[in-house]
Amino acid sequence: MKRNLILTGFMGSGKSTLGLRLSYRLRIPVVDTDKRIEQRAGRSIPDIFAREGEEAFREKERACLEELQNEPGRKIISTGGGLPLRAENREALRRLGIVFYLRAKPETIWERLRHDTGRPLLQTEDPRRRIRELLAERSALYEAAADEIVDVDGREFDSILREIVRRYDQHGRRRGGTRRGKRGSA
Ligand code: S3P
Repeated sequence: MKRNLILTGFMGSGKSTLGLRLSYRLRIPVVDTDKRIEQRAGRSIPDIFAREGEEAFREKERACLEELQNEPGRKIISTGGGLPLRAENREALRRLGIVFYLRAKPETIWERLRHDTGRPLLQTEDPRRRIRELLAERSALYEAAADEIVDVDGREFDSILREIVRRYDQHGRRRGGTRRGKRGSA
């Protein structure tokens, strides 16, 4: 059985949208860690950050991964942008399946999120700068956790989707080969 297909990347890189589209295309159920955390907590992410703090949210992310490890069946898993920050989460992601990092440039993120109010970490005076800083801090971690890196700047969702499906299939066919054949987009 093929393993889960996992999407990681910065806020606004397209994880949730692509997760849904991949689910439809591959007929595999999708789990979005942010949505699951909101359901379990009975409150929104901005609310969790405001009332319980970021660390409490990170703990919920860890617990969510643990839960997923104990669930049967193959899934598409779209993750919150900060989930791979913890080393234990990066290891859990690798155990769970094939990890795709949707890599986006800061300008792409900014264009997509400039009017967004649902991301607590970007509610600052200079969100554009914050995006650059966070991305600089995080890119190496996203890359370290990834089996596959997919560049998304300037691309239609359909083209990204086709690339992910193709690469995911290749993993399914590779038997006993090296798993971590990390590559950038062709
Ligand atoms: C976060 C990303 C968000 C959400 C939370 C924190 C982050 O998810 O989990 O606001 O630390 O990058 P998206 O990547 O789906 O926006």
